[in-house]
Parts: sequence; C-alpha cells; structure tokens
Amino acid sequence: MNMSNPRIPRPFFCGNWKLWGTLSDSVALATGVRDAVAGVTAADVAVSPGFVALATVAEQLKGGSLGVAAQDGYWESKGAFTGEVAMAQIADGGARYAIVGHSERRQYFGETDASVARKAKAALAAGLTPIICIGETLAERDAGQALAVVARQLDGTTRTLTDDELARSVIAYEPVWAIGTGRVATPAQAQEVHASIRDQLTRRLPARAQQIRILYGGSVKPDNIADLMKQKDIDGALVGGASLTVDSFAKIVQQGVAACTPS
Ligand code: PGA
Repeated sequence: MNMSNPRIPRPFFCGNWKLWGTLSDSVALATGVRDAVAGVTAADVAVSPGFVALATVAEQLKGGSLGVAAQDGYWESKGAFTGEVAMAQIADGGARYAIVGHSERRQYFGETDASVARKAKAALAAGLTPIICIGETLAERDAGQALAVVARQLDGTTRTLTDDELARSVIAYEPVWAIGTGRVATPAQAQEVHASIRDQLTRRLPARAQQIRILYGGSVKPDNIADLMKQKDIDGALVGGASLTVDSFAKIVQQGVAACTPS
C-alpha cells in the first residue's frame, strides 16, 4: 500500500471462516467483529460464515459497514444442481462478496481456472464482488514457477470478464504453502507476486488496474500484517485462522489500516 499514490484502492480485510462454527458461534463472532471494528472508517471489512449461517449473520449486520462474503457459489441460477448455492441466492441472503477459487476448493473439490472464471462472472452478474483466489504450490515455487503459475491462473480466471467486471473484482494472492501452515510469505516475496499481478492487470486495463484490490492471504496474523501492508501492491488480506477470534481479526484490521495511514 503506497500512500504517496492517490489512486491506491481502499484497503480490504476479509475473514475466511472456512468450515467453522454453529449458527450462534457465527452470530457471536460477526457481531463481536462488527463492534470491535466500528471505529475503522478507512477500510472495507467482511466476514465469511458458512452457508447455513450466512443470511442470519447478514441480517444481524444489516445497515452497518461490516460486509458478508460467501466462501463459494455456483454459476447457474437455478435448476437440477443438487447441493449447489446460486450467486443470486447468496446476494438475496445479504452477502456483498463471494470468494471463488480458494485453493482448498481447487485441491479437494476439483475446481479449475475455468470453473472459477464462471463463478466469478456469475457473482458479478448477481451484484456480488468476487474475491478471485490464485496462488502457487510449494513444488511450483521451488521449481521457480510461482510467477508463471499465478499469471496463468489470473488469466484463466479473468479472461472471460469484461473490463468493467474485472475492474469491480478483487484478486487474492494466496500461496498454497502459506495457508494454514504458519509459514507466511515474506513481505518481499508477496510484493514480488503482487507487483507481477498488478503489471498483468495494467496491461489489460491501463487506466484502472491501480484501483483493483489485490489481497494477500496465507498465515496473516496481527504481528505480520503491518509489514505486509507497507508493500506497494498489497491492498489488504484474506485471513483464515486468525479471523476466528474477534481480538486477532480486529487487531489485523486496525494494525493493517495503521500501517498504510501516513503519520
Ligand atoms: P490462513 O488461511 O490465514 O489460516 O492461512 C488463509 C486462507 O485460506 O484464506
């Protein structure tokens, strides 16, 4: 986040709760986060409960600034697709965002860049902001392929979006080896990939790429968020484990905002 550049996007912090919590756990965590970040006006903040809790949490947060994200969503709007949840249903439930293409969905549920692209497009059509996840595995990084893999995934997941749709999307760079492992990318490693994502977006949308938010995800914690947010092309974070308590997620938001606010 580069404060000398007036075109930088507004920071965005999204908690990814994954498979966690009862309905009452979800409401308690969401309302706790809402109260803890009530004073934060310089960033957008969202939480992503599981589907059963999503509409109830959104109802509790109605009228406030804390947003709700779905963790996935399907591209068809209705029909014989047992078990799927349509992006329009997610929007109707009160969400503003949908995470698409998380590496756990790719790894365990067979998601591909092509399916993620369809989901991103459907999210936009339903009025949601997609948070499009990309990131290399450890083997790919060790083989020197990190930038190439991320470039291919970015292209594959966004190629079918119109320029306007791409400009309204959020990209999340999440190195698979850093997710849930406690092994965070160094700020320099993350910035290198974010800069390359920004360059690729700039080639496609020269006038608007600076406005597109590129989040970092992978073992973000209160004690590493500040150094990440000081990087020029890191505009926020997608936070898994550390978003499951009010205290740690609120600290990430507050310290993340402080790190990109000129003193
Ligand atoms: P983590 O998860 O913060 O627990 O590493 C991040 C994510 O998977 O989005």
